Amino acid sequence: MDVALEVVDEWIEGGEASGYITSVIEDSSGVVLGYVCYGPTPLTSGTFDLYWIAVDPTGQGKGFGQRLLAHAEAEVRKRGGRMLLIETSSQDSYASTIHFYERAGYELVARIPGYYRPGDDKLVFAKNLRSAG
Ligand SMILES: CC(C)(COP(=O)(O)OP(=O)(O)OC[C@H]1O[C@@H](n2cnc3c(N)ncnc32)[C@H](O)[C@@H]1OP(=O)(O)O)[C@@H](O)C(=O)NCCC(=O)NCCS
Repeated sequence: MDVALEVVDEWIEGGEASGYITSVIEDSSGVVLGYVCYGPTPLTSGTFDLYWIAVDPTGQGKGFGQRLLAHAEAEVRKRGGRMLLIETSSQDSYASTIHFYERAGYELVARIPGYYRPGDDKLVFAKNLRSAG
């Protein structure tokens, strides 16, 4: 949580120069239902990383996550982005998150065995924003 808050703070303080962009989804009275944090990957041309996406537990499964992800993709395209990468863990508890990314058109392009700890791989999902809608 500390790391997640840190990138939002950096974006609030430094704007896009921080390397992070945060978008939120709110209800009609301005209560934040979820957020997504993404930014250009340093030393690449047109590659972006999605660092965090989260929806309030009471609002999960209602399509807010897909709307946040679609919004982030549109913002990345506006900035000339051609590829969006998402890293996650292979732990069973991430199965529904992985399903969420696959539903949104992301493909598993890399796996680093034992990256987080023995038996817990790093999975890298990617979406080509030039060919995908
Ligand atoms: C992953 C997450 C952002 C998805 O947002 P969401 O608003 O719940 O998802 P949506 O309603 O847009 O999409 C629902 C789809 O996502 C999947 N999903 C993933 N996590 C889910 C959850 N906790 N509750 C319901 N559906 C979930 C469902 O399988 C569903 O697929 P289906 O349409 O085929 O049934 C959200 O569940 C969440 O914040 N999870 C905890 C934090 C997390 O894991 N973040 C990603 C790693 S940084």
